[in-house]
Amino acid sequence: MIQQFQNIEQVSNAAVRRIIEIARTAVAAKGFCTIVLAGGKTPQLTYEYLGNAPASQQIFWQQIHFFWGDERWLAASHPDSNFFMANKALLARVPIPHNNIHRINTGSANPEMGAEMYEKHLRAFFLQRPSGAENKMAGDMSFPSFDLVILGMGTDGHTASIFPGSNLLEEEKKWVAAVPQGIGAPPVARVTLTLPVLNRAENTLFLISGNRKREILHAILTRPAEAEAIYPAARIKPAGSILWLVAEKD
Ligand code: 6PG
Repeated sequence: MIQQFQNIEQVSNAAVRRIIEIARTAVAAKGFCTIVLAGGKTPQLTYEYLGNAPASQQIFWQQIHFFWGDERWLAASHPDSNFFMANKALLARVPIPHNNIHRINTGSANPEMGAEMYEKHLRAFFLQRPSGAENKMAGDMSFPSFDLVILGMGTDGHTASIFPGSNLLEEEKKWVAAVPQGIGAPPVARVTLTLPVLNRAENTLFLISGNRKREILHAILTRPAEAEAIYPAARIKPAGSILWLVAEKD
């Protein structure tokens, strides 16, 4: 489904409403909710709004677990780090337990090791859950299912850190992968969740703003086969719901 808005403020308000709805439903059903955060600039306002009252008072922070769809290979204190942005905009402002923040650690020797460690962390997390995702894994042992995956899209059609032409478009086994060569903006190495994981999401929320991204979205919706060959974001075809929130203006 697509919802169009004039500006990013309206998109962010709609995103916050959707996040609250999904979080409350998951917590009521199984006692916790797993949310994958997007990086980049577009979601920043959504995170800020989510941390503001009254939105923040509608979330059971003790039961929410945050993960990242991708991370740039930068120190956690670097302003371009996806963790840094989400922490500043949201996490540091709400009463979420430290153990519920599952950031992609960029402190290890290289992105390959970082990816391996994050995958191990995710496997341990999902195996320990007494319900929800763990039950799903019993039916589908290979991949976890997050309650909500928030994604952005680049003006080249990349999503998370899966870029056009990447061999990660063919990944079938890993949950998390390294992008060792510097790419994107900023042009640094990255660690990303893979398509099989992103496509197991219960709910997916894309935040889109600006003309170029709207053109790509139009191609994805109207010429899907063609778009899939060009834009990684077109390869996001999750098992669950997908909502595109689109702002006309950048
Ligand atoms: C990243 C991302 C990436 C992002 C898009 C859009 O770390 O770069 O997670 O996939 O969502 O590049 O970025 P903007 O919102 O800044 O345009």
